[in-house]
Amino acid sequence: MKRVKVLDKEFEVSIPAKEIDAIISGLAARMNNDLKNKDVIFLGILNGSFMFAADLYRKITLESTITFLKLASYDGTSSTGVVKRLIGFNESIKGKTVVVLEDIVDSGNTIENIIMQLKGYEPKEIKIATLVYKPEAYKKDYHIDYVGLEIPNDFIVGYGLDYDGYGRNLADIYTLVNDDVKAENLLNFVVLGMPSSGKGTHASKLANKYNLHHISTGDILRDEIAHETEMGKLAGKLIDNGEFVSDEIIIKIIEGYIDRNRDAKGFVFDGFPRTINQAKEFNEMLEKKGIKINSIFELEIDKQTVQNRMIKRGQLTNRITDQDIETIKRRLEIYEETTRPITQYFDNNINSINADGKISEVFQSIINIIEK
Ligand code: IMP
Ligand code: MG
Repeated sequence: MKRVKVLDKEFEVSIPAKEIDAIISGLAARMNNDLKNKDVIFLGILNGSFMFAADLYRKITLESTITFLKLASYDGTSSTGVVKRLIGFNESIKGKTVVVLEDIVDSGNTIENIIMQLKGYEPKEIKIATLVYKPEAYKKDYHIDYVGLEIPNDFIVGYGLDYDGYGRNLADIYTLVNDDVKAENLLNFVVLGMPSSGKGTHASKLANKYNLHHISTGDILRDEIAHETEMGKLAGKLIDNGEFVSDEIIIKIIEGYIDRNRDAKGFVFDGFPRTINQAKEFNEMLEKKGIKINSIFELEIDKQTVQNRMIKRGQLTNRITDQDIETIKRRLEIYEETTRPITQYFDNNINSINADGKISEVFQSIINIIEK
């Protein structure tokens, strides 16, 4: 099987140039037949569709025009709910039959966005044509009028399609060779516990011992903000405005982290999820990826002990006031009220760990459960 390397990834040929040509001939024949006697304008969506549009248009015999549009990339992505603006318009599509040419339809966010915006220009009708379509990834209801080929939900490159801007020049279409660890082979743990129960320490020790990624939501949130990722910018803005970063955004950030670390052996979630709603959304996201949580550890410690520990910790750095003690009590109450109930949600693989002892002993009891 013919292979290529694009940037850091290996791809294997999946749709040879000859087959692409036959697919396009088929599409053109259908369009030439269906759209006879209509006032047709083709709209190629850049960048990806330039090659498809050129080869298709060569085979179009209708009296028609073609132009190219692009979605402005600086407005954010549609996955964050921000609409990217269509740019490059200089001819009227009013009253015309518009045929949108896309290289690929994946989630459908892009075509939805395009359809919504094109409607504002009052075309007679909008037809969607795409060279390839991923039915498993498609989340919208819009009918796609012309589909060249349905493909599995794998990442592809070539024939106009890019990986990080590269690979568009390949004549064939290639599929990413997936040598990542399979989702079901990952080792994943959740460590929960009230403040001061040592969950950060044990999560980090677990990550070290089994060579896993330690995910603390606070850390990855700060990291996204520092790296100015799409989600990081959104979260940063909310924080700056004194607003709450929604569970949805936190889950998206965790999902993004997992996707970017597909070579990981597994993950240790430190103090997450924190609420029933987070637990639900977290489970749905993991399920979608086929990822399972192997064990959840809830570090149990006597409330009075935690309270004394936190007070003592506070006294080491400065004088502790009655108000501080109230805050500590409140944090423990919040744990009881909002976090503890999530353990019911995970029922079967919850392990209650007595965390009232030496770090090494507590850790050993966690290991004993894992190795059992
Ligand atoms: P959608 O909005 O999720 O339907 O995605 C459409 C856009 O995502 C395309 O225009 C491509 O730019 C990109 N895309 C989706 N899947 C692939 C792929 O497998 N290879 C390269 N680009 C892709
Ligand atoms: Mg594209």
